[in-house]
Order: sequence, then structure tokens, then C-alpha cells
Amino acid sequence: MPIETIFDTMEYGTAPEDRSVALQWIANHGGLIGPYVNGAFAPARDDLTIRNPATGEKLAGMTLCTKDEVTEAVQSARAAQPDWQKAGGAARARVLYALARLMQKHARLLAVMESLDNGKPIRESRDIDIPLAIRHFYHHAGHAQLMPSALADRVALGVCGQIIPWNFPLLMLAWKIAPALAMGNTVVLKPAEYTPMTAMIFADICSQAGVPPGVVNIVTGDGSTGAALVDATVDKIAFTGSTSVGRQIQEATAGSGKSLTLELGGKSPYIVFDDADIDSAVEGLVDAIWFNQGQVCCAGSRLLIHEAIADDFHNRLKARMDKLRIGDPLDKSIDVGAIVDPIQLQQIQALVQANTAGQTYHAQTPVPEGCFYPPTLITGLHPADTLMQEEIFGPVLVSTTFRTPAEAVEIANNSKYGLAATLWTENINLALEIAPKLVAGVVWVNATNLFDAAAGFGGTRESGFGREGGWEGLQAYSKPRQPLPEPAQVTPFTGQGAAADDIDRTAKLFIGGKQARPDGGYSQAIFGPKGQLLGHAPIANRKDIRNAVQAQLACGWGKTTGHLRAQILYYLAENLAAQTNRFAERLDAMTGSTTGAEEVRAAVDVLFTYAAWADKFEGRAKSVPMRAVALAMREPVGTIAALCSDQHPLLGLVTPMAAALCTGNSITLCASAPFPLAATDFSHILEASDVPAGVVNILTGPQADLAPHLGAHMGLDTVWCLSGAELTQEVQARASSNIKRVWQGAAQDDHDSWLDAGTEIKTIWIPYGE
Ligand code: NAI
Ligand code: MG
Repeated sequence: MPIETIFDTMEYGTAPEDRSVALQWIANHGGLIGPYVNGAFAPARDDLTIRNPATGEKLAGMTLCTKDEVTEAVQSARAAQPDWQKAGGAARARVLYALARLMQKHARLLAVMESLDNGKPIRESRDIDIPLAIRHFYHHAGHAQLMPSALADRVALGVCGQIIPWNFPLLMLAWKIAPALAMGNTVVLKPAEYTPMTAMIFADICSQAGVPPGVVNIVTGDGSTGAALVDATVDKIAFTGSTSVGRQIQEATAGSGKSLTLELGGKSPYIVFDDADIDSAVEGLVDAIWFNQGQVCCAGSRLLIHEAIADDFHNRLKARMDKLRIGDPLDKSIDVGAIVDPIQLQQIQALVQANTAGQTYHAQTPVPEGCFYPPTLITGLHPADTLMQEEIFGPVLVSTTFRTPAEAVEIANNSKYGLAATLWTENINLALEIAPKLVAGVVWVNATNLFDAAAGFGGTRESGFGREGGWEGLQAYSKPRQPLPEPAQVTPFTGQGAAADDIDRTAKLFIGGKQARPDGGYSQAIFGPKGQLLGHAPIANRKDIRNAVQAQLACGWGKTTGHLRAQILYYLAENLAAQTNRFAERLDAMTGSTTGAEEVRAAVDVLFTYAAWADKFEGRAKSVPMRAVALAMREPVGTIAALCSDQHPLLGLVTPMAAALCTGNSITLCASAPFPLAATDFSHILEASDVPAGVVNILTGPQADLAPHLGAHMGLDTVWCLSGAELTQEVQARASSNIKRVWQGAAQDDHDSWLDAGTEIKTIWIPYGE
């Protein structure tokens, strides 16, 4: 085009990136890719075809790894793990550092390959995906170095199975592999079937960087390969992908003892208040929903706009949409590239076509033939409309309006997901008022899609659990050095027992701050070890659980200050201490031991300890490499239920309760079934100690009958299974109903683990400067 014409039209020319470097790499590998196991590529097969979505051309053939091939990879990881752990943090740091350096050296190859394979604009792979992936390895080289001193009480999990999606192929690989290796684990990673190419280059880089054979293994394949990895003898599964597959994995791993983190879908709100800098908010929205063609788990896909500025905002947004350039991902002047695969394109088309609500606007910009979809805005939707609720995973923004900040929060949180949220306002007070109220793992203030290795990323609700990045991300790849105590083997008295005297000693449940008769009306006689009748304990059922959870949801404990929570925990300690003798006698009578008084003193001490922590378990301000603060706020996980252990009928009740209350959670405690009377007695301590109604509920009865209902309950965020593996499996098998967190407890004095289990990190990003 002559310069004159360019000046006349002000059109962009094309600026294609040279693809030959990537095509040469593929040719060097014979056009076939396959598993990388024990430090070498295994012979590859042409089972599946890997395509460039922008052109439909075949890039390579790929092995569909079988169950046996997965097993082989896991064995290689297993064999390598002890030495990798023993090598020590400093040695692992050198290897991670070498990986980062080599990735930097091959950055252009990686970027070009990523855009060829995935269809994302080269601007994004070059400036975002690859640099962030490299930064992840540098950052975690540091964590490896510091592990022996900074995380002396934690050890590796072992072998980690990692399954990643196609939207950020190399970046998700980095998020998975870097922390795992830093903590001394070995890995078997399965890239997505659409986008395996950069993982293959990474495998090459591992060999060059001196990663010991077996430490990193990569299996190629589809969902069947992923499912085989989930079933294999790994110690952990880390998954990023769709909520439906996440659910299947949670079910498949139930009772296996494998630890699990899930990073799933989202429908993240993008809230614009009437005092926002509108042009910045429009530009932010371009990044929120048209970055990576909207195929982003945390995409700001749900616009909530203040009614007063809605028309103006939509008009400016449409004008901006019309200027977005769609086309060849390798063209440096392209904003929106190709959709990853025709199947994904069909899904987007189908969802948009099925919608009859609101007004649909497609950007007035040329759209090439093939796997492309225009930036789309659907306005005038109702918060309950399908497209306001369902993830589209494409370049489609849906929009609704709100009138007040309270209404904005309500609409924002009206979602089964809770991954990210963005809010725009020039009023810092409003921003800091709203950010904590949004149910999301990440909140961006006056910015969007900011990521860094030092800052945690991950969701709540059906967006999954676990964090990636930062100190909090290391939790997911390590475990306490101190093992869990063995569950108690209790054989309660089952004979006839002495006849009851004429005093009614039927205890009650404690629900919503009141003594409550069990819904079913049944109770069970509780005998001492020699058969003396000690009293009757109620048998709770599903409806009692429902009432307890309802009371929890209404209690408002999460909004109290740490100071207040401490005061109440101290008060509980005081009131329990005053009744030491009574509780000691009760414990000794139930268990036949003589250590009751000791146990009461320990319980009082636990209350003091968590009272002390209540205003000291703090978040952090992260050092992110940009002009922003990233606040890692500790928020309560929410509504907890606990199956308490039989080991110490009182201490095993008070410990989860104190840890939960300290961190701002409400809790329903299912007391030890053979020894419930210390728990029913404890409800009187609760009544006397100003604990607000619903914050603590106490149920008794056979735990095996309660466990399935706890697992399935949609109102519970977490179940703490503290009474052994059998019931853990019962709970885990049903926990996928709402992607519940299930936790098996920690040693009594491992306070950090208890406090961590009660909290979730929310990262709030606040950029600063003009
Ligand atoms: P997917 O969840 O099926 O795939 C993600 C990964 O899981 C891939 O590596 C896949 O091979 C593997 N996988 C599939 N089935 C499996 C199983 N049963 N066991 C173990 N691994 C399995 O996602 P898909 O089908 O590619 O995309 C479908 C939808 O999922 C998208 O439209 C989008 O809504 C959502 N999605 C969300 C992502 C996120 O980052 N949250 C990423 C990718 C997709
Ligand atoms: Mg799939």
C-alpha cells in the first residue's frame, strides 16, 4: 500500500510474524509429537491431528496416550521423586532458574508456536502468556530456595498429576509445574488435546536445563488420557478446565486420599459505577472479554453497568468494538484471533442463537472465514437470563444494569461461580467497600486481568478451590511435615446397661442458639464403659442439618471483627474453665479414662490460642512487578460442618469450633457418636458465652447417617472430616454437588493448618499512579 493511501485511510497494514521457526521445530520432530517420559520423547504416533485453528491446517500428529503409557509416566515420576526431594531446595532452585533462562531464550519460538496452535494473537502470546510463564519459573526458583527455611514444617506431596486446558497452554503448564517442582514433587502433566505444542517445546527445554529424568513427564492425549491420569497412583490431581470435568474428577478421587485442587469456570462480573472513568472502563472491558477471544476462565463476561450511564457506556463500547481487528493471529496488528477449535465455535454460536432475550450487537468489523467469531455485546438482559448465568467462553459480553451499590453486589454475587470480579469507580471508599463483598477469589479495581506469580489466583463456589501463585499456591503442593493423628478405635459399650433412674437425662441438639428436640424425635442411650447409663443423646437427621445450616447462613459472624471474635472465644474459655470438674467427670464417665481434667484444660488452652489468633492471622501485600498493590486478604471459607473425632470427645469438638470461629466461619459440629454428652453439655457453655445464634450448632447421632447429607448440602462450603477415612469418602463422593472443599484435619497443635483451612485468600488488585 503506498504511504499516501495509508495516510488517507489511516488503515493498519499487516505485520506478520515469521512462523518458520515453529514449523522448523515441528519438522525436526518428524511432524509427530508424543509423550515425554523419564527425560526423553517416546516414539510418537499419528493418533490425533493438531491443527492451526486460524487456517485449519494440520500442524502435527499426536499420540493419544493409553492407560499403560500413563502408568509408565507415573512410574517414572515416582522413581524420580525421592531424589528430587532430597536434592534440596537450593538444587531445585538452580534447575527452575535454568528453565526460566532457557524459556526466555526460546521466547519467540514459544510465542509463535502458541499462536499457531491456539489461535491467540501473537501480541498476547508474545507480551502476556510467555513472559508470565517465565516469570512463574523465576518466582518459584525463589520459593524452592527458601523452602528449607521459610517452609520448614512442610514437605512435598509426592507425584502430582496435572491436567490443563487449551486457553493458556504454556502459562497453565507453568502455573502447575513450577510450584510442584519447587516443593520437591515430580509431575505428570497432560496438556489439552487442542494445544499440546508448547508443552512439547517445554519438554525439550527440560532436557536442556538439566531437569533430572522422571521429574517432569508429559503425556499427550484427550479426556481419556486425563481420566487415566486421575485414576493412576498419584498423590495429587491439579486440574484446570470446565466445571463439569472438575466435578467428575472430584467424584473419581473421592476416598482415594489424593489431594485435589480445581480451577474451573466463571461468569465474572465487571461492575461500572456512574463515577467511573468511562473511557478507561471501556478499554478495560476490551481486555476483560476480548482478550484471548474471551476464552478466559476469569473473563469479565458479565457487564453490570450503573443505569444512569448505561446508554452512553454501551454506545462508546460499540464504537470501540467496531475498531477491533479480527484475523490472522500471527499478524502483530490483530486484536482478536481465532477460536481454538470448530467445536468451541459451534458452542458459542449455539448459545448466542438460542438466546431470545435482550438486543444482540455484533461488532461491525470484517470477520474472516473459518474459526472466527465477532466481538459481541448483548444488552438488556435480566440477571436470571441463561446468558447471564452460563459461561459462554467466547468473545460474547452480556450486560445488565443496576441502581445502587447494594444492588450491584447482589447481582454480581447471583452466580454459581466465584472466580473473579472487576469494579470501576473513581471513589476509593466505594471500591474498598465493595471489593470484600464480592464472592470471588480475585478482585480487580480499575483494571482487569492482572496476573503475577507472586499473587494468588483461584476461585470459590463452583469456580473451584485452591490457589495458584504466591505463598498460598505452595500449600497446594506441600503438606504438613507432622502427619495426621491416627483415628481412634472406639468400641462403645453395647450391652443392656443399668436401668435408667427416674430423672430425664435426654439432652437436646443445639441449633440456631437454642436447645432443640431432634426432628425425628429419636434419641439413643449412652452408657459408660462398664454399662452405667449416663443419659440419652438425640439422633439428628437431614432436617436438623438443614435447620443448622440455615441458622449458619443467617448468623453474620463473618462480618464481625477479629477483636470481637477473640472476646467471645476468651469468654468461652473462661466459662469452660469454671466447669472443669463437671466436664472432667463427664469425660471420665464416658470413656473410662482418668484424663478428663487434662482434656478440659487442653480445650481451654485451645480456646485461648484461637482467641489470640483471631486478630492476628493476617493477609499480605504482594510485591507485584507493576504499579499496583495486590492485597492477599484472608476471608472466611463460610459455612463449615465438622465430623468430630472420637479421640477426645471435648477437645475434638472445641478445636474445630475454635479454629472456625477464629477465622470468621460458622460451624455445625457433629459430635463424637459414642461420646456425645460432653458436646451436649457444651451447648450450655455456648449459651452462657454470648455466641450469637447460629454461629455454632451441635448435632449428635450416628455420623455415618449425617455424612452423606453434609456432603450433598448446597449451603455448606466446607466439610471437615475429622473422624476417619471412611466417612471422608462418604462426604467426598457427594461434595461435587457444589464443588465443596473437604478437609481431613491436621495435628492438634498445627495451628497454621487449622487457620488456613478456615480461610480463603482473596487477591484484591489496586493499581496506582496517574
Ligand atoms: P475440558 O474441561 O473438557 O478440558 C480441560 C482438560 O481436561 C483437557 O486437558 C482435557 O483433555 C481434560 N479432560 C477432559 N475430560 C477429562 C476427564 N474426564 N478426566 C480428566 N481429564 C479430562 O474443557 P473443554 O471440553 O476443552 O472445553 C469445554 C468448556 O470448558 C469450554 O467451553 C469452557 O466453558 C470450559 N473451559 C474452562 C476453562 C477454564 O480455564 N476454566 C478452560 C477450558 C475450558
Ligand atoms: Mg472436552
